[in-house]
Amino acid sequence: MASTANETAIEQWNTTATREAMEETATDGDFCKRHLANPTLLRLLGDVRGRRVLDAGCGNGYFSRMLAERGAQVVGVEPAGSMADFAREKEAELGQGIRYVQADLTELTELTQPNQLPALGGPFDAVVCSMVLMAIPDWKPAMRACVELARPGGLFVFGLVHPAFEQLLDTWRQHGAYRVQRYLDEYEIVSPVASDFHRPLSAYLNELASLGCRLREVAEPRLDPDVAAASTAPGIEAYVHLPNFLFVSAEAPAAR
Ligand SMILES: C[S@@+](CC[C@H](N)C(=O)[O-])C[C@H]1O[C@@H](n2cnc3c(N)ncnc32)[C@H](O)[C@@H]1O
Repeated sequence: MASTANETAIEQWNTTATREAMEETATDGDFCKRHLANPTLLRLLGDVRGRRVLDAGCGNGYFSRMLAERGAQVVGVEPAGSMADFAREKEAELGQGIRYVQADLTELTELTQPNQLPALGGPFDAVVCSMVLMAIPDWKPAMRACVELARPGGLFVFGLVHPAFEQLLDTWRQHGAYRVQRYLDEYEIVSPVASDFHRPLSAYLNELASLGCRLREVAEPRLDPDVAAASTAPGIEAYVHLPNFLFVSAEAPAAR
C-alpha cells in the first residue's frame, strides 16, 4: 500500500514537470548534474558495459540514456506519469533498448519476491538511485527495494542533496558562508517544484547498515574552480568550498 504522503509527493513531481524543463535537461541534466553528479555516479558505477542497471526514480530518464550510451542494459523506474511518458517518448525516438516501468519504489518490495522478479527483469548488477530518497516522505521501503533488486554482492549507489548543506546556494548568496539551524530534526523543505524531506545523514547510513550493505565509498564532489570561474551564476563558488551533493556506494549483502 502506497502511503498518502508518498502519493502526494509523486503527484507534485507529476504536475510540475513541464515538457520544456524535461527537454532542457534531457541529454545530461542541469549544471549541477553535469559538473558534480554525473562524473561521480559514473565513477562509482565503474564500467557498465553489458551490465544490467536499474535507474531507480529515473525522472526524465537522462541518466538511463547516459548509461545505455555506455553499453549498460537499463531499466528505469519512475512513478510520475508525465516523466515516465517523456522517458518512453525519448526511447521511441532513440531506440536505446531502455525499458521504463511506471512504479512507486516503495511498493516494489512486492515485486522483488522471487516469482515476481521478471516484472522488472531483476536482479540487477547495479542499482542507482540519484536525488530520489530525499524526495520520498516514507523513504525506507524505497531504499530496501533498491537493495533487494540488486543481485547478491551487487552495487547500490545513491545520491542526495547533501543533508548538511541543503540551502547551500541561497545561504551563500545571502551570507557568503553557510549557516544551518536545524540539522537533527526531520522536516519538509517546501519548494515550487516539489518538496524534499530533510533527515540527518545518520538516518541514511544507519538504514543502509541495517539492510546488510557494505559501505564502499562516500563521495562529496567539489566543483572545479575553473568551471566556477567561467560561470556567471552568483554564489557559484559555494560549490567549490562546500558539497552540494553526497553520494554513497555500497555492496548489497552477498546472501539473503
Ligand atoms: C530530483 S528528481 C531526480 C530524478 C532523476 N533521478 C535525476 O537525477 O534527474 C526526484 C525523482 O524522484 C521521484 N520519486 C518521488 N517519489 C518516488 C517514489 N516513491 N518512488 C520512485 N521515485 C520517486 C520523482 O518522481 C522524481 O522523478
